[in-house]
Amino acid sequence: MIVLGIETSCDETGVAIYDTDKGLLADVLYSQIDLHSQYGGVVPELASRDHVQRIIPLVDQALQQAKLNKSNIDGIAYTEGPGLMGALLVGAAVGRSLAWSLGIPSIGVHHMEGHLLAPMLADNKPVFPFLGLLVSGGHSLLVDVKVHGQYLVIGESLDDAIGEAFDKTAKLLDLGYPGGPAISKAAQKGDASAYQFPRPMTNRPGLDMSFSGLKTFVLNTWESSDKSEQTKANIAAAFQEAIVDTLIIKCKRAIKETNYSRIVIAGGVSANVQLREKMQEYADKNGVEVFFPDPKLCTDNGSMIAYAGALRLLKGEKSTIGFQTRARWSLEELSH
Ligand code: KG4
Ligand code: ZN
Repeated sequence: MIVLGIETSCDETGVAIYDTDKGLLADVLYSQIDLHSQYGGVVPELASRDHVQRIIPLVDQALQQAKLNKSNIDGIAYTEGPGLMGALLVGAAVGRSLAWSLGIPSIGVHHMEGHLLAPMLADNKPVFPFLGLLVSGGHSLLVDVKVHGQYLVIGESLDDAIGEAFDKTAKLLDLGYPGGPAISKAAQKGDASAYQFPRPMTNRPGLDMSFSGLKTFVLNTWESSDKSEQTKANIAAAFQEAIVDTLIIKCKRAIKETNYSRIVIAGGVSANVQLREKMQEYADKNGVEVFFPDPKLCTDNGSMIAYAGALRLLKGEKSTIGFQTRARWSLEELSH
């Protein structure tokens, strides 16, 4: 089965083609970073308008890359939510109309399921069951994944998502947008031991997380500092280390609770090199296997949507005549 995947939930227009026999045939992406960076964050209306302009040329480009015609496509997957409503509507409308005109099934995909399954597109694929750690701009979730489609959220952020904490912290340090890569770059020149930032919610039991206090801690540290470039780099390094340490502590607990021996880490923040290295180190020392998406499939992309959609289309699932996109959508609602 050949599936066209469309991702437009936020500030990336992603289109990909996944063949259930041969794997990924095409993956094209247009990132709106330049459009939004002058505002220090995503402007929803600008995002929607830009998706409208990019989407059709990107579908054509993906078909060209895969050396296919529209008539070769067997199904279409698009992101149904969660995300920015206007942005989601663009991908959903194009996906649904194209499927209708070609007489093929379509399926609305949960964006976070797309992220969660993205590591399965790598050579070293995880098998079920596993502990999922989803870390993106909008969500921080620890998920008990028994089988495909059965998701139990066992921990989550009570305030800022981790990517959001990176973005807000980068903004207050004037490091640019998106904040994750900017903090990570600044941290390379910094000394994490210059500061001891809190590891939030680790001194009491539980799997929930909270990152807004850490951001305030950074703000106070920065405001009372000499505001030099070296201080900025040191703060970035200490902040990144605090986040990574906190995530490792929470994963250790979740592994103990679930008794799983596999962790799948996905979502934009899983591109973070320090997180990948430290998690790998922890996993190697504790007889746990850890899986990440290919670095270019950590942040939003069409491939993860094509793949997650293909798994559901293969099971016979498809959109009915009703049409919806969802700004909010719990991953647990997918379980049946
Ligand atoms: O998954 P994603 O592309 O979009 C959402 O679903 O939200 O995640 C975007 C988030 C942003 O907050 C960005 O700052 C963060 O992922 N991010 C990173 C890195 N690359 C992207 N955070 C830390 N380190 C990175 N290298
Ligand atoms: Zn995402």
